[in-house]
Amino acid sequence: MSSATDLHPSPDLSDPPRVVLLEGIHPAAASLLRGQGFEVTEIRGALGPGALAEALRGAAILGLRSKTQVTAETLSECTDLLAIGAFCIGTNQVDLSAAAQRGIAVFNSPFSNTRSVAELTIAEIIALSRRLFDKSSGLHAGRWDKSAAHAHEIRGRTLGIVGYGHIGSQLSVLAEAMGMRVTFYDIAPKLPLGNAMALPSLQALLETADVVSLHVPATPLTEGMIGAAELAMMRPGSFLINNARGSVVDIGALAVALASGAIGGAAVDVFPEEPAANQGAFDCPLAGLSNAILTPHIGGSTEEAQENIARDVSSKLLRFMLNGSTTTSVNVPEVDLPLLRESQHRILHFHRNVPGVLGRMHTMLAARGVNINAEFLQSKAELSYVILDVDPVEGEAVKEGLRQIPETIRVRTLW
Ligand code: NAI
Repeated sequence: MSSATDLHPSPDLSDPPRVVLLEGIHPAAASLLRGQGFEVTEIRGALGPGALAEALRGAAILGLRSKTQVTAETLSECTDLLAIGAFCIGTNQVDLSAAAQRGIAVFNSPFSNTRSVAELTIAEIIALSRRLFDKSSGLHAGRWDKSAAHAHEIRGRTLGIVGYGHIGSQLSVLAEAMGMRVTFYDIAPKLPLGNAMALPSLQALLETADVVSLHVPATPLTEGMIGAAELAMMRPGSFLINNARGSVVDIGALAVALASGAIGGAAVDVFPEEPAANQGAFDCPLAGLSNAILTPHIGGSTEEAQENIARDVSSKLLRFMLNGSTTTSVNVPEVDLPLLRESQHRILHFHRNVPGVLGRMHTMLAARGVNINAEFLQSKAELSYVILDVDPVEGEAVKEGLRQIPETIRVRTLW
């Protein structure tokens, strides 16, 4: 995670950027941003379009979670906005292309809850192996059932991980520390951690694992990846865990396999259809099966993950604001910039990606006697982002000159 404190030798914050944080974002975000001199307004709930545009008047940064919709129309009203932080995983709530066309960089935090999902999975492996939920609900219902039958340690058992990415590989380390043997299957070549062993096919994994845990994204390839045929390949008494995406498992086929005892149990956190809001009605074929642990998409929902997200996204926003770097932005070209050297000025320029713009910029700067010491450029689709480190300049005049170039979308300076 990037540090927010070593970005710029002396950010000029005589006019502190205004930040609006919505939807009860973890206070670590406001604290980090205020620590760099930004003026932060925190609003607990989401805002509708009119109220949002109003709240963003004069604001350089918007922070939101999943409930606030940022449309092209709202963006057109927020002329001072430079960056949006989605303090969550998804970014569907923001019109990313409209933001890019205005040179507004959008950042999110795709991996801050990795550990939370891995830990939940470990808990579920143990809970299934000890029939914990069954025993607990039995006792709640007044049934004392002390027995070792069908209760197992996880030590020495084989965990098969499907998708060895951020979560899968983290789970691999935790599971091995608890004495499990780990195998995995991934479509991309992955370095096995510890003693984990890569398997050549999903079938090889399904046929040999005591616990199969899914950690793949929702893609056309993973849709219905585990159906009746795959469940039939699993070992009798084995467990299936889906903390990935609801589309990956045929939930009807899983209910049949659980009810018939073809597999021993399952833990499912994600469903093909999930209620849009808390307290929404929920029904699925797995409801009522005592060997299925069901959780309401809480794999990544911990206070630690929320704090990690707050720190991660704020750091990315600060790097963009104070240094110009767009690394990991989901919508604008990614440029990872060095620290600005003492006695240098930095020009940050978003423009339409067409021939001749750099030439016009150089000509304009040369005409003003501006000496360029370093230049960085990256393009993505129709947008280009160029950064020039120059000897000290009269910022407003240079910005005005660059705004005269018809392809210019946005220009900003740092010193
Ligand atoms: P990641 O992108 O780091 O890893 C995914 C891995 O799956 C990659 O190594 C990729 O090569 C592999 N993969 C993709 N298609 C595959 C296929 N057809 N067969 C085998 N391997 C395949 O993703 P990350 O962060 O590990 O997340 C994994 C899943 O967990 C995602 O679907 C994500 O949405 C979900 N998730 C669920 C949460 C929850 O609350 N339950 C919270 C966070 C993530």
